[in-house]
Amino acid sequence: MPADYEFDGYCRHYLEQWEQRATVRHMPRTRLSAEGTRGELFPATLQPILSHADVIAWGPDVRHRILARATATFMLHVAILEVDLITDLCIKFVTADTGVPMPEAAKQVALTVATDEAYHAFVAREFLGDLERHTGIVPATDATMPIVAALAEVRRRAPPDLKAATNTMVLCFAENFVTEELFGLSREDIPQGPFHTIMREHMMDEGRHQVFFQRLFRQIWTGLDEEQRSALGRLVPVYLDSFLTAGSYEASQRDLLEYAGFDPEVAARIARESLAATFGTELPRKSSLQFMRNALHLVEVSGILEHEPTRRALVESGWVDA
Ligand SMILES: [Fe+2]
Ligand SMILES: [Fe+2]
Repeated sequence: MPADYEFDGYCRHYLEQWEQRATVRHMPRTRLSAEGTRGELFPATLQPILSHADVIAWGPDVRHRILARATATFMLHVAILEVDLITDLCIKFVTADTGVPMPEAAKQVALTVATDEAYHAFVAREFLGDLERHTGIVPATDATMPIVAALAEVRRRAPPDLKAATNTMVLCFAENFVTEELFGLSREDIPQGPFHTIMREHMMDEGRHQVFFQRLFRQIWTGLDEEQRSALGRLVPVYLDSFLTAGSYEASQRDLLEYAGFDPEVAARIARESLAATFGTELPRKSSLQFMRNALHLVEVSGILEHEPTRRALVESGWVDA
């Protein structure tokens, strides 16, 4: 059976199931109530500053404020990325020439993804409104979103005939980033609250998206000629490197501390000490980074490592072990 026929069949099946599986089509959403804002609003394990003695000394209200600010900033990023980046790239995929043969059913699936993501942005914005109404807490609005910087970097370097494929590649990586582990959704030792409920509803859609975009990346890759594969393959480590270096975990930790009332200088010291205590000062191997696990899974299942020049570029840049 030819690969594109298989992909077409997969997409048709996806469309048949969308009605039953998409949260926007069959499930009432969870709202954040005033009562819900009283507990832990974000997984505390993701905020190393909370274990710092100076922060513990400031008491439970500061801890609550830090977690509420973290949840607000996270939801703002969801609200922005889902529409500005994912929905936009899905629509570009549908309307622009992808440069490789693409079944109509794949474009229809991309439109269902755009629909799911616009709905996720809606839920995130509603959450932000509820949070501000109940607590007065607002998100940080000036943080860099690594994927936006990474997209800009690979777009700048992409040859003209690969612009569409490059956009779709970034879309495939963007949709293969989040995992349930990232938010402690499946861990029993992390207190579960409204954030987890809302994220779990969101992740019901993301698991389905991930598989589609793994297959889509494989489809695009298979449709490229040798020269195009080499050019797109060179952009994969560029994308991963830009993603890794664009965001600053330390800056986000500093923001939380300043929002909770610490002086900027004290905030900077606590953030630095907390990250060193949690992660050490040695840089880990890129191929072992836990939060990049899903992106590296995409590299494996998309088939691009079977292309020797691409495999070499990923090994030389440290993303794949030799
Ligand atoms: Fe989403
Ligand atoms: Fe998604």
